[in-house]
Amino acid sequence: MKRKSDTISFVGLGYVGLCTATVMASKGLRIIGVDVDEKRIEQLRRGQPPFHEPQLQPLLKAAIRKKRMEFTTDASQLAEANSIFITVGTPTNPDGSIDLTYVKKATQDVGSAIAGSPSYHLIVIKSTVTPGTTADVVRPVLEASSEKNCGPDLGLCSNPEFLAEGSAIKGTLSPDKIVIGSIDAKSGGALTKLYRRIHQKIKVPTILTDPTTAETIKYASNAFLATRVSTINTIANICQRVPNSDVETVAKAIGLDPRIGSLYLKAGPGYGGSCFHKDLQALINYSQNKNYDPILFRATEETNEQQATRVVGMAEKLLGSLSFNNSSIISFLIAILCLLV
Ligand SMILES: NC(=O)c1ccc[n+]([C@@H]2O[C@H](COP(=O)([O-])OP(=O)(O)OC[C@H]3O[C@@H](n4cnc5c(N)ncnc54)[C@H](O)[C@@H]3O)[C@@H](O)[C@H]2O)c1
Repeated sequence: MKRKSDTISFVGLGYVGLCTATVMASKGLRIIGVDVDEKRIEQLRRGQPPFHEPQLQPLLKAAIRKKRMEFTTDASQLAEANSIFITVGTPTNPDGSIDLTYVKKATQDVGSAIAGSPSYHLIVIKSTVTPGTTADVVRPVLEASSEKNCGPDLGLCSNPEFLAEGSAIKGTLSPDKIVIGSIDAKSGGALTKLYRRIHQKIKVPTILTDPTTAETIKYASNAFLATRVSTINTIANICQRVPNSDVETVAKAIGLDPRIGSLYLKAGPGYGGSCFHKDLQALINYSQNKNYDPILFRATEETNEQQATRVVGMAEKLLGSLSFNNSSIISFLIAILCLLV
C-alpha cells in the first residue's frame, strides 16, 4: 500500500487531467482519477484514452499494468491522496466569460471528500480560470464543504496548465516552466516538492507567486500567442497585395530576431483548437468588467475570424464555388490550401 504522499488524485480526466495524471504515474506515483463520465471511466480502465495524443496510450497501459492508476466515478476516494488536482472544463458563457459550474461542483466534491480527514490536503486548481477565481470562488466553496480553513491544515494553489494538444505528454514530461500560485508558503512548498519529484533529472524554471498572478500568467500567455498568429496573418494579407512579396520569407527573417523568435509565425487560416478563442473571450470579458477595453485582443479575435472567411474565399477562387454546407470538406480544402500557399 503506497503512502498518501505517493498518491495523487485528479478530478476531471479530459485532456489536461488524463495527460498530467499519466505522466505522474509514469514517474512512480499512484493515481486515483475521478470523472463523472461513466463511459470514460470504463474506457480508461481498459487502457483506452478517449482522444488521440502521441505517447499517451502506451504510458496509460503501462501504468494500469503496474497498478499505478485507478479510475472511478466515486469522488469520496479523492481523500486517499494528499494532493488533489482539479482539472475539469471551464467552457464559455454566451457573454465570453467562463462557466465555473464544473469547477464549483468539483471543489464541493473535493471538500466533502476530505471533510473529517485529519491529514493535510493540498488542492490544486489546474483548470484555466480568470484572475481571482481561486481566491474568491474556489476558496470559500472549499472551506464551506470541507469545514476546514485554508492554512496549516488545508493547502490551495493555482497551477495553470500550458500544454499544447498534440505534444501534451512531451510538454508535461519536460515543461518550459511551472507556475505555482499559492495561498501560503506551505502550499507552494508542497507543490514545488511534488514537481521536483516528477522532474528529477531536469531543472524546470518555476515561478512561485500568488494565485491571482498565476491565473493571469495563463491568460497573458495565450493572448500573446494568439496575437502573434493574427499579426503574421495580417502581414500575409498585406503581402498578398504586394507583387512578389513572400510571407514565408518575411516570417523566416523576422523569426531570426531573438526578440521575436520563430514559433507561431506561420501564416494560415488562423488559430482554432480549444483554448485561444475561449481564453481571449474570457480575458476580454474580464477586462471590460474591470472598465478596461483591451482593444488589441479584440482586434486579434476579429482578425482571426476574418482570416477563416478569407481563406475560404481563396479556396473558392482556386477551386470554384464552395456553396455546399459541409464544414469538414471546407476544412479539408483549407488544409490543402495552407499546404499550397
Ligand atoms: N485541452 C487543452 O489543450 C488545455 C490546455 C491548457 C489548459 N486547459 C484548461 O484545462 C481545463 C480542462 O480542459 P480539458 O481540455 O482537459 O477539458 P475536458 O472537457 O477535455 O475534460 C474535462 C473532464 O472533466 C470531467 N468533469 C466535469 N465535472 C466533473 C466533476 N464534478 N467531477 C469529475 N469530473 C468532472 C468531464 O467529464 C471531462 O471528462 C480547462 O479549464 C481548459 O481551459 C486545456
